[in-house]
Amino acid sequence: MKKDGFFITFEGADGSGKTTQIKMLEEYLVTQKKDFIITRDPGGTKLGSKLREILLTYDGKIAPFCELFLYLADRAQHVDEVIMPALNNGKMVLCDRYIDSTLAYQGYARGLNIDEIINLNNLVTHSLIPDLTLLFDIETGIAMKRIGDKKDRLESEAAHFHEKVRFGYLDLAKKDPQRIKVIDASMSIDDVYNQVIEIIKQFV
Ligand SMILES: Nc1ncnc2c1ncn2[C@@H]1O[C@H](COP(=O)(O)OP(=O)(O)OP(=O)(O)O)[C@@H](O)[C@H]1O
Ligand SMILES: [Mg+2]
Repeated sequence: MKKDGFFITFEGADGSGKTTQIKMLEEYLVTQKKDFIITRDPGGTKLGSKLREILLTYDGKIAPFCELFLYLADRAQHVDEVIMPALNNGKMVLCDRYIDSTLAYQGYARGLNIDEIINLNNLVTHSLIPDLTLLFDIETGIAMKRIGDKKDRLESEAAHFHEKVRFGYLDLAKKDPQRIKVIDASMSIDDVYNQVIEIIKQFV
């Protein structure tokens, strides 16, 4: 798909530091006078924020395919309404989570078929794949400690679920090292940021 902008996604476990680092990168990009937007998946649109609320707070059991399609519904809206228009306007798009989250959580951790998820994702995103993905890798225990007691529906999953998510992410990075760059997210906020900037400077 033709586009002029540059699409960067931030991936990794809950508490790995994605949002913290996006905010720091935002300051850098402002000083560089880059034209960019920051958005998040799920919840990057008005409709999507309603879907996000269901996904993070619904207190009943959500069937795995229902969960998958809620994420994909959110993404379909998000790509059409926000991400593609920005990229077509030559902007840089920084997105907090995207397809690799779906693969890691609904695929590797929940056990849905990876190839089926990829096909469905390509359908709803018109095959829009990030130009660059930063994967914040961290030991599950350290990430959980950072989050503390304020856990949402997915963060409340058992430890072995989060181990599968971590393994899934690293496996995805191994399969696509060109796009997915692994960052050691266990370091201090500044040391993690230095890794981020080093990679960003190579691409931007
Ligand atoms: N490198 C770091 N060292 C120590 N604490 C950190 C580090 N990075 C972030 N934190 C803290 O850990 C908590 C989680 O960070 P943050 O919200 O950025 O993670 P996240 O990846 O966006 O999580 P989520 O997926 O739940 O949104 C915050 O309180 C943040 O201040
Ligand atoms: Mg966050």
